[in-house]
Amino acid sequence: MASSVRTAIFPVAGLGTRFLPATKATPKELLPVIDTPLIQYAIDEAQEAGIERMVFVSHPSKAAIERHVMDDAKLRADLKARGKADLAADLQEAAFCPDTDDVVFTMQDEPLGLGHAVLCARDHALPGPVAVILPDDLIVGRGCLAEMIEAYDPATAGHMVATMTVDRDETEKYGILSTTGGSGRLLTADGMVEKPAPEDAPSCEAVVGRYVLDPSIFDDLAVQAPGAKGEIQLTDAIASGKERVGLSGFRFSGTRFDCGSKAGMLRAILHLAAEDPECRAVLAEAGHRAAARAA
Ligand code: UTP
Repeated sequence: MASSVRTAIFPVAGLGTRFLPATKATPKELLPVIDTPLIQYAIDEAQEAGIERMVFVSHPSKAAIERHVMDDAKLRADLKARGKADLAADLQEAAFCPDTDDVVFTMQDEPLGLGHAVLCARDHALPGPVAVILPDDLIVGRGCLAEMIEAYDPATAGHMVATMTVDRDETEKYGILSTTGGSGRLLTADGMVEKPAPEDAPSCEAVVGRYVLDPSIFDDLAVQAPGAKGEIQLTDAIASGKERVGLSGFRFSGTRFDCGSKAGMLRAILHLAAEDPECRAVLAEAGHRAAARAA
């Protein structure tokens, strides 16, 4: 059966200030975890979830994202001319072609917040609920979006947010879901609290960057006043629609890395390096050297 969730929105217009100077000329979403840019992991996840249309909300200064995402026939021809036909075929396989793939690039001219970025995708979304993927939240393991869509019942789920269980002393770092019940990975909820102190946290379910949103989110975003940091916040619009459409959480099975922060990016690299035979040898060497230094 075709999924009711046909569109994935990728907000990629942010300034990436936590990664300056690396992000001065290179968009954060193109920073690689080993050899694969963050945006590619997000695209792969959306494809695994059976998404029909991908909408990228970008910024004019971040044209490199479009160059990465779309096919580059000239580069492929150059590679072939140099005897690297295999590499050319791999690039073609991973890239989108405007004639055959349903891909839209639209611009958010000013980074007015995540909610505003999602609103910029409104005219390009197919009917029905929409998925939102934040590429700097890298989730490895089974595709988080595929799991969410499988669990998403448009009649009851309302706005669904991905969650992971954190230690109570870590709640101050996350948006925390106020849960009211649940069964298995699916949680019912009545709100979200931004970065609560451990003693005030309504649960230990931290919200991360994957959402399946009822289409009424666009109407709520259109009238949403600026919130924290003077930006149009997606969480505020989700909260304002929750009474009408409902709110749910989904505890995904994979492991999430906050690749918008240096520590999270390093953890992601180490995690994936341990799974790659070539990199594993390097990690082992580094481990031996560290042990020798400590001895
Ligand atoms: P972040 O808040 O993590 O990204 O937004 P940022 O603002 O670029 O990074 P810092 O905090 O300055 O380092 C999560 C995602 O939402 C996008 C970002 O590009 C990122 O993919 N975003 C954020 C937008 O598209 N527009 C915005 O106005 C804000």
